[in-house]
Amino acid sequence: MAFTRRQVLVTTAAAALLPTSVRAALPRLEAREALQQIAPENYDPTPIWGYDGGAPGPEIRIAQGARVQRRLVNNLPEPTTVHWHGIRIDNAMDDVPGLTQDAVPPGQGFDYDFVAPDAGTFWYHSHNRTMRQVAQGLYGPLIVEEAAPPDVDHDLVLMLDDWRLDPETLRITQDFDNNHDLSHAGRLGNVLTVNGRFDPAYQARRHDRLRLRLINAANARIFNVGLEGLAGWIVALDGMPLAQPMAVDGPFPIAPAQRVDLIVDVTAEAGQTASLVSVERDGGWGLARFEVGEPSASGPRGATSALLSNPLPQIENAGDAPLHRMVMQGGAMRWLEKARIGDTELTGRELAELGRFWALNGYAERPPEPFLDVQRGSLHRIAFVNETAFPHAMHLHGHHFRLIRPDGQLGPWRDTVLVERGETRQIALVADNPGDWLLHCHMLGHAASGMMSWFRVA
Ligand code: C2O
Ligand code: CU
Repeated sequence: MAFTRRQVLVTTAAAALLPTSVRAALPRLEAREALQQIAPENYDPTPIWGYDGGAPGPEIRIAQGARVQRRLVNNLPEPTTVHWHGIRIDNAMDDVPGLTQDAVPPGQGFDYDFVAPDAGTFWYHSHNRTMRQVAQGLYGPLIVEEAAPPDVDHDLVLMLDDWRLDPETLRITQDFDNNHDLSHAGRLGNVLTVNGRFDPAYQARRHDRLRLRLINAANARIFNVGLEGLAGWIVALDGMPLAQPMAVDGPFPIAPAQRVDLIVDVTAEAGQTASLVSVERDGGWGLARFEVGEPSASGPRGATSALLSNPLPQIENAGDAPLHRMVMQGGAMRWLEKARIGDTELTGRELAELGRFWALNGYAERPPEPFLDVQRGSLHRIAFVNETAFPHAMHLHGHHFRLIRPDGQLGPWRDTVLVERGETRQIALVADNPGDWLLHCHMLGHAASGMMSWFRVA
């Protein structure tokens, strides 16, 4: 049957009236329940919540400057969203329920369509009931490739997590309101995984050069990563290249939400195993293994060079920029005496009854007014003053910032900074992305129990 011109016009006009969620198809990203082998092989699989049925979800890989286009389809029993962690994104796509949009109800969809301006290692995760949804597997890698990527034999994403499984049933424990976790170091798991599997094995040859993109997707665990049979450099942090690659000369920390890009050579002999280990005070655990085969033809290689830099703002004279204090209080051993929720001041006891144990500048939940309300393009310093007895991984949405070293020199670019207990850390921020942006602890139990704030860039 041939369409008449009139029919065609009617159809296109009708399509224009449809809400975007039912217009033409973007590639789908489906949030749903699934079964996955989290515990070692000879145990039962675990019911999880995953994107496209897996944790991590599918690796989304695009070229720098290209668009990420995905239709979230929510087939979970509760509302959800996708947040694109570390992308200097258009505010409308940042997906924070209650701040930039509503969560997507079960059975419905949302179209994400945005440009990724920076090359590097990023990730995506749920930002609704974040602690429980991420703990159940709603996360995945987002890789933005450089125009001229470094010369390596393998480019491998390694997403670290720790799951808390009931030892009897191997189900994810549902104790998300556990006040002890919330008021201490957060929800720590008992099964460590890489790419959703326990101690996975990869193949490599001696002298192979690997780019390893480590992403910490855990709720609260600070991994201390050691290398065995692998030697090389850290080349990027939180997606942003270091000006100079930094030789790895011992275990290094990676806090929740942080990324570390490594370029390493396989130094283990053929027939041996190289590994990535989690170094703990009293020993350690294997995270992932490389079974090493016959040497590659190329033989050992020379030093690696820095990755191409991203189009980040210039920062000069950060020392002259206005300094804003973000005081972090509360938690076990330094219990809150009082803090505000909205306009109401509550006592520590009243807050604890509401499951609130932490405060940022005196607020135990996202305050009604932004912590900072600043002009687009202006330069600021933020001092994170950690008066608690625990470390916190402080994350800003929509921006990267530079660490300021104790001597006042500018350090690397990051989107999440680990602030140790009792420590004060300064950052320099060019507020160049307009919108309302969250600022919170990425230990997700801490965020849920008070460590949540926001800033506005006009
Ligand atoms: Cu990974 Cu609010 O962020
Ligand atoms: Cu915290």
